Parts: sequence; C-alpha cells; structure tokens
Amino acid sequence: MTLALEAVQVTKEYPSPSGDGIITAVDRMEMALERGEFVALVGPSGSGKTTMLAMLAGLLAPNSGAIRIAGQDLTQMRERERTAFRRREIGFTFQDNNLVPYLTALENVEYMLRLNGEYDRPGRERARELLVRLGLEERLKSLPRQLSGGQQQRVAIARSLINQPTLVLADEPTASLDTERAFQVVETMAQLVHAENRAAIMVTHDLRMVEYCDRVIQMVDGRLERVLSTREDITCLVNPALCERIPLAVLGYEEDEALQVQYVEL
Ligand SMILES: Nc1ncnc2c1ncn2[C@@H]1O[C@H](COP(=O)(O)OP(=O)(O)OP(=O)(O)O)[C@@H](O)[C@H]1O
Ligand SMILES: [Mg+2]
Repeated sequence: MTLALEAVQVTKEYPSPSGDGIITAVDRMEMALERGEFVALVGPSGSGKTTMLAMLAGLLAPNSGAIRIAGQDLTQMRERERTAFRRREIGFTFQDNNLVPYLTALENVEYMLRLNGEYDRPGRERARELLVRLGLEERLKSLPRQLSGGQQQRVAIARSLINQPTLVLADEPTASLDTERAFQVVETMAQLVHAENRAAIMVTHDLRMVEYCDRVIQMVDGRLERVLSTREDITCLVNPALCERIPLAVLGYEEDEALQVQYVEL
C-alpha cells in the first residue's frame, strides 16, 4: 500500500543572519505516515518544525531529500503541477491563518471548494458541517475580523479539511484556544483523520494535546530525535506524574519548555 507521506533525508539550509554561514534548519529528517494516522510533531523552539511542515506542504523547497505524498515526489514537480497537487492532496493551517478578510467564515471554507472545482451542494453542506463540528455554528456569517483568534484558527482548520486531502498539516492549531476548546478541536481533528482515513501532522507545544495522536515525533536541532509510538509512552508524555520515567527530561526539554504540563523534578 502506498504511504500517505514519506520524507527521506530532507534537509533545509538557510543563510545565517550574519551572512557568513548557513543554518541547517532541517537536517536529514525522515518520517513516514500511513493513511489514518494522526501524528504530533514536537520539539524545542527553533528545532525546525515549521520549516519541515512548509516543505511537506510544498511551499518551501528542500536543499536535498525526497518528499512523497500519495506516492508522488513533490520535489520533482514543476511549480504549476505542485500547486495543483497541493490543492488536491494537502490541507494546511499555519499560525497566521491567512483567511480571506472579505469573505465570511463559511465562504472562506467554500472558497477552497471553488479552487478545486467542487463547489456543489454536497461540498457546501460539508463546509457547513465541518464548521459546526468545530463549534462555529453561530459564526458562519462572520468576517475574520469579527472573530477571535481561536475562532479564526478553527475556520482555518475547517478550510484545511474541506477538500478531503491525503495529508493534513497543522502548525500549532490550538495556540490561541482555551484548554477546553483546544481539546475539542484536536479531538475533532483526530476523529476526522481516523474516520476519513487521512494522514495528519500537528505541531504542538502543548504536550497535553498529544493524547489524541497515534505517534509523537520529536525533532531537536533539525534532526529526528525520537518517535513515541506506544500508548504507554504517549500517556507518559501527556501526564508525567503517572509515570516512573521522566519523559520531558528524556525528551530533552528544558524546564521553561515543559509548557503547561506538570513538570517532574529531576
Ligand atoms: N527564513 C528563514 N531564514 C533564516 N533562518 C530561518 C528562517 N526560517 C527559520 N529559520 C531558522 O531555522 C531554524 C528552525 O526554525 P523553525 O521556524 O522551523 O523552528 P520551529 O521548530 O518551528 O520553532 P518554534 O517552535 O519556535 O515555532 C531556526 O533556527 C530559525 O531561526
Ligand atoms: Mg514553528
């Protein structure tokens, strides 16, 4: 069976700010996702998560490596081909959610249907349903500026899912949500990914959110540091107090990055 996503030895270098060297933001990173998998991508600030996601979305070209989505290598495509492929196969939300300011919440989601030539009754019904599932029933007709940051983020999540893409990418989708809403949104994402057999990667700093994920991939300094794939390991990460091990320290987090999880004394 074809993997939903396969990234092989992906590297991205930026010129350093001083101009006399390079920063290797992503260093021979590897990952593979099957359809139906919801994966968390975690790691300290600056470890290369957003850069990796931008490459997986086909928005940023790696210096080397291969990125195959549904068996097709993004890095080998011409720009036009990649754009069309991205619309069909990849849904993403980045932290600045880029909603169209003069379209309502519903129209922002429907707009993606138009881009794909799928603006029909079932598509529109699905757009409405997604927004309702994400708790925006009362806000379908609001413009982005009339919405809170968290509501805008939820519109962006609906937009990333509307075209039923193979791969869903979300960079900190819960960053501006309160705890209850954050859990709800991530749970909804997990349900949709599992029910519709998509593959999704969620970058998060809030380790409580990984509870809904099937695997946790950790990056440090641009590299793949560790993959947690058992329920037990993931539960330890969510709730260190329940475990004898000290997963945050194991994971290489500094204390100030323990982020909203109860920190376990070394
Ligand atoms: N356009 C750019 N030009 C130069 N350096 C960059 C650029 N974008 C990112 N970097 C550098 O690449 C490294 C990885 O950045 P990236 O944004 O991918 O990290 P991150 O893991 O998403 O961090 P955070 O958790 O803070 O969002 C950092 O050292 C960053 O300063
Ligand atoms: Mg980032």
